Amino acid sequence: MDKFVIRGGNPLVGTIRVSGAKNSALPCMAAAILTEETVTLENIPSVRDIATERKLLAAMGAEVELGTGTSDHRTTICCRTLSDPVAKYEIVKTMRASSLVLGPLIARTGMARVAMPGGCAIGGRPIDLHIKGLEKMGATIAQEHGYLEARAERLRGAHLVFDKITVTGTEDLLMAAVLADGETVMENCAREPEVTDLAALLTAMGAKIEGAGTSTIHVQGVTSLHGAQYLINPDRIEAGTFLIAGAITGGDLTVTDCNPDHIRAVLSKLEETGAKIDIVGPDAVRVRSDGKHRAADISTEEYPGFPTDMQAQYMALATQSEGVSLIKENIFENRFMHVQELVRMGANIKVDGRTATVRGPAKLSAAAVMCSDLRASASLVLAALVADGESILDRVYHMDRGYERIEEKLRSAGAEIQRMGNVFPARDGEAAAD
Ligand code: UD1
Repeated sequence: MDKFVIRGGNPLVGTIRVSGAKNSALPCMAAAILTEETVTLENIPSVRDIATERKLLAAMGAEVELGTGTSDHRTTICCRTLSDPVAKYEIVKTMRASSLVLGPLIARTGMARVAMPGGCAIGGRPIDLHIKGLEKMGATIAQEHGYLEARAERLRGAHLVFDKITVTGTEDLLMAAVLADGETVMENCAREPEVTDLAALLTAMGAKIEGAGTSTIHVQGVTSLHGAQYLINPDRIEAGTFLIAGAITGGDLTVTDCNPDHIRAVLSKLEETGAKIDIVGPDAVRVRSDGKHRAADISTEEYPGFPTDMQAQYMALATQSEGVSLIKENIFENRFMHVQELVRMGANIKVDGRTATVRGPAKLSAAAVMCSDLRASASLVLAALVADGESILDRVYHMDRGYERIEEKLRSAGAEIQRMGNVFPARDGEAAAD
């Protein structure tokens, strides 16, 4: 199992480029199920979750190809034949986003067999809202042997109101609605840029969608969709992680190929902690810090609020900030797995329910620590970058699920970070082992 060895103390200086958004690429790949023609996606990140989704689609009978050489961030998917519309547990258990194939499979083939995702490190993560919406559109869904068996002659348009805002739930039902008979109105939708990205691809495939990116989406169902080529937007969470890396190390870092508009909440919080932020172009942000940070509270919210996917990384910065930072996690019930590891490195953090109280600045000392989930791993990397001595991070496969060669990117800006073990990604990508 791969490990990172990180020696702290170097300020990050230079430029780091952001890859395509994993959370946009995943639903966009699932959208290829909706057509017999080829869908070509550009700027796909080379991360393990993407390899897992390729495997999932290929197991259903799709032809999935990855570009080579200079075009290895392109993937083409052709779902002319879907001989086996099943999402097997062996794949679903490694990546919850696999439930994104449920809506498109029913819409295209009239049936789907998808393993129930079960729990994961950060909480229960049910898919009841996906099921409820599909049933309202006329699907019959039964649960048997750990699988959802869904059937529908043709889905019909419906008026859907989400009880709770869900990102992949919005995406799943949007993909179901585009081929449904008649109009679907979806209310209380997620407004995340990844939903807008998916809607833009679906529109390029011939779907009729209005309102993506707002809380109400209108869809006029069509009878078929065609192939399309689409460029995936930059990963806002990767961008935010690097900006915190620049700030926490007291560096001068420019993060390029990102969309500053998508990370406004993170940028304004970084400014509140004392970092100097400059938007230096339509797709670049520069962060400068003298290494002195002020405490500031955060409360995770749906977009455009402060993202839950940046909470763990922000906590690493809070350990270095003067004063008391209150960190409230509103989206997931158990997303403080990184706390114990940060405490082992010397951080002063107390958790009470959904709130973590961080007192700083704490002198962090290097330690052997364990990555528990994707963003928790990023938090530990950030802490290790400022810790005194050499830290060893175990189970970095969690990191590989969502960050493309993060060690190479950080090293290019002056970090001392080495990977020990087999270098990911293997070209055929094994499923993530979590
Ligand atoms: C997506 C992102 C993930 C991010 C999360 C919140 C992808 C692939 N993953 O996850 O990185 O952390 O959004 O921004 O895009 N819920 C229900 N019933 C449902 C669905 C969700 O109760 O049917 C609850 C969840 O338990 C959670 C909340 O709704 O408390 C939000 O979850 P959701 O937005 O669905 O997260 P994901 O789409 O799984």
